[in-house]
Amino acid sequence: MKPESEYDLVIVGSGIAGLSFALNVAKAGHRVAIFTKKDKAESNTNYAQGGIAAVTSAGDDLDKHVEDTLEAGDGLCDPKVVREILKEGPDRIQDLIDLGVSFSSLDDGRISLGKEGGHSKRRVLHVKDITGKAIEDALLAAIANEGVHLFEHYFAIDLITAKKVRKLGVQVEGVDDRVLGLYFYDGLEEQVKTIASPAVLLATGGAGQTYLYTTNPSIATGDGIAIASRAGLASMNLEFIQFHPTTFHSQKGDRFLITEAVRGEGAKLIDGKGRAFLKKYHPLADLAPRDVVARAIDREMKRTGAPFVRLDTPSMDIDFPDRFPNVYKNCVNRGVNPSQMPVPVVPAAHYSCGGIPTELDCSTELDGLYACGEVACTGLHGANRLASNSLLEAVVLAYRGAEAVCQFLENQKEKTFQLPEWVDGDVAASDERVVLSHNLDELKRTMWDYVGIVRSTKRLERAQTRIRNLGREINEYYWNAKVDLPLLEVRNLVCVSELIVRSALQRKESRGLHYTLDYPDRSEISENIKVKTLAH
Ligand code: SIN
Repeated sequence: MKPESEYDLVIVGSGIAGLSFALNVAKAGHRVAIFTKKDKAESNTNYAQGGIAAVTSAGDDLDKHVEDTLEAGDGLCDPKVVREILKEGPDRIQDLIDLGVSFSSLDDGRISLGKEGGHSKRRVLHVKDITGKAIEDALLAAIANEGVHLFEHYFAIDLITAKKVRKLGVQVEGVDDRVLGLYFYDGLEEQVKTIASPAVLLATGGAGQTYLYTTNPSIATGDGIAIASRAGLASMNLEFIQFHPTTFHSQKGDRFLITEAVRGEGAKLIDGKGRAFLKKYHPLADLAPRDVVARAIDREMKRTGAPFVRLDTPSMDIDFPDRFPNVYKNCVNRGVNPSQMPVPVVPAAHYSCGGIPTELDCSTELDGLYACGEVACTGLHGANRLASNSLLEAVVLAYRGAEAVCQFLENQKEKTFQLPEWVDGDVAASDERVVLSHNLDELKRTMWDYVGIVRSTKRLERAQTRIRNLGREINEYYWNAKVDLPLLEVRNLVCVSELIVRSALQRKESRGLHYTLDYPDRSEISENIKVKTLAH
């Protein structure tokens, strides 16, 4: 199937946010298309192990979930947003169950609830350790039944907006600026296509690939943030990159996630001498919020000079392969049997708590542009996301956002316009392939070395100088070259990295995931930091 030239709603990204949103808008009878840059299941969602947090047991209540979220967020969550989102959790969980997601259950038939860092209660619903994949599979089946068009290998380059086309002489009446459509690079036909749509949802996930080591799949290149910022939107609180405390350490450098639920089931982090060390850092020890645990590991590694710490899995009182089959298989494939030996672990970039600022209906400051999931910044996560709150945020806000989009579409009179076609540059990208991959290596290493768990003004400034140089090279090349996937991804990674560093430099305090040696204390005043891109 080929895409039509226009839709009512175009969605970029096929994770839990994009699929849930599509399902809800398509059910209302609108023409919805999802475009995804790789295979449809290649999303961050698909790799989510731990689960989805919600209050579903008698011993738990909404106030406790709110309190845990606010505590983890270190004074920067929006309390009203937190309560609104968490309160709708149980209804949206029921929707998932109705779609066929079969959450793990206990022998007596009750849902089995896991525990993760920062949660005062067991409240994480999971499907063993493949929760994301189970949800993704159910949603993919549901959208196919609802007639949503889904196109793989389409990379969203940039939004087409009223402001941009007016400069090219196209008449667009009404509001100052609004969304008119998107340019997509069709990776199979190797050409750019123009798709018109009055409403666009960015559901592109995170930006973990800005770092050398990450739990994220290769698609996580911050595309939505880069696209929105090139359309003139601000991004908020981008300095809050969550480093997951436990990813498998291998000499070769490939990392994979060891879900926090492993610590929830009793595993402790130990140093080279086999001593548990987290109780030195926080009363909740191994189940302290993630920022605390990642910093503690970083400090232990620096103190001892060891390249990793270990997760003491053999001492756990569970059937490891049964509860965590995916983690088990991945470890055994690399020569470590978690039932018999501790697993070597290190932190790695995992989640962007900042993003495009949105309202609770996913709307942004640009008419017709919506954002949902990790790409958005709603105020739920504050300075440090509570584990397993992100899948919940995605389903709750996709539901609310879909209602808002349906309303928006009803109010549209003139829906689509004759849009200017894409003009390609004439330099063959292959000429510069080596430069592109070198730039990418340099970028990822710079972010890892200077914009990591412990920062300083000097390190951030160093990163900024290097990233700006890379940005100049990539932009100059972009404007002259025939575009292709590697070029487009590097362009976005450089853009987002520059925003992260600038946001970090503007925060003159340490809070949540942003820890800087030059301002080690938390400021009295909690404020959000917004940055806009310097180059379009
Ligand atoms: C994990 O399973 O540890 C990750 C879950 C999350 O990031 O919320």
